[in-house]
Amino acid sequence: MKINISNIKKAKKILDNNHCVAIPTETVYGLAANAYSDIAVKKIYKLKKRPKYNPLIIHYYTLKDLKKDCVINKEFLSLYKRFSPGPITYILKLRDQSNISKIATNNKNTLAVRFPKHRITKHLLKILAYPLAAPSANISSKVSAVSSADVKDDFGKKLKYILEGGKSSIGVESTIISLIKKPKILRLGGLETSKINKALNKNLGFNLNPTKILTSGQMRLHYSPGLPIKLNVSKSKSNEAYILLKKPKILKDNLFYLSKNGNLKEAAQNLYSILRKIKKSKFKSIAIEKISDKGLGMTINDRLIRASKY
Ligand code: TXA
Ligand code: MG
Repeated sequence: MKINISNIKKAKKILDNNHCVAIPTETVYGLAANAYSDIAVKKIYKLKKRPKYNPLIIHYYTLKDLKKDCVINKEFLSLYKRFSPGPITYILKLRDQSNISKIATNNKNTLAVRFPKHRITKHLLKILAYPLAAPSANISSKVSAVSSADVKDDFGKKLKYILEGGKSSIGVESTIISLIKKPKILRLGGLETSKINKALNKNLGFNLNPTKILTSGQMRLHYSPGLPIKLNVSKSKSNEAYILLKKPKILKDNLFYLSKNGNLKEAAQNLYSILRKIKKSKFKSIAIEKISDKGLGMTINDRLIRASKY
């Protein structure tokens, strides 16, 4: 996608005035505001209807900027070199002298940080004097947005500006790893855990349903399209939307598919737009066939299980 400088400048102006702007990232669109400003950050929570206790991810352009706010460690550096910018979020220790809004962290002494790869958002971050707090640009507990049209559907005129960046290339949120004590995966996402394991030469566990909620992606109801979903269904019924991994030979109006040839990356990329498309259709329930629990299939299944708790 071509970079339109005047759009980026417009986004900067609105952000500099403590308002929210939706920004494109390679994972999903974010609802961004100045992370150093309480006034700006409060607007994110209000627009998104997000509970106050749920802290935000802070988006940076360079490591130099991050060092003012966080304590970094060896594991962070090796993952950063290998995977950032990209679909990974690190939980690090917050510095006492950091200027990050206490509303964005809910007064925690840790910070979720990410370096997005999307060219347009990178350019924007580069010209701003502050990092951007940005949760996914959707109404809290619903399906994330992977295009500017999705963001518009959720927020309409309440949002001053959406920075156009095309369709998100990964299509699911970043993988979250805590580096506070022993490295631990808190949310499955766009970066496969097998790659993280390899880089750290470890076998990290993750706990998808902990008793103490650490990350909202760990809450049971999340990513909900607002329709009941049944998983691992092997046969379609004509009165419900049926999602297949692979394009079927014969298409019917209730059949939807995640990828042409069963490619899990492509499936992850299309997952949220298909759930949103079905929500707008005449179908009142969704069935989905079994998706292999490998690579990004693990992330897809994680999202579907949570979405099915509706
Ligand atoms: O791909 C993504 O990560 C997107 C794009 C916009 O960057 N953002 C995103 O943000 O998915 P959000 O707010 O929808 O999910 C961020 C998660 C939340 O579940 C929150 O609970 C968790 O990060 N989180 C934030 N700060 C945390 C912290 N200090 N410790 C543990 N979890 C934290
Ligand atoms: Mg979210």
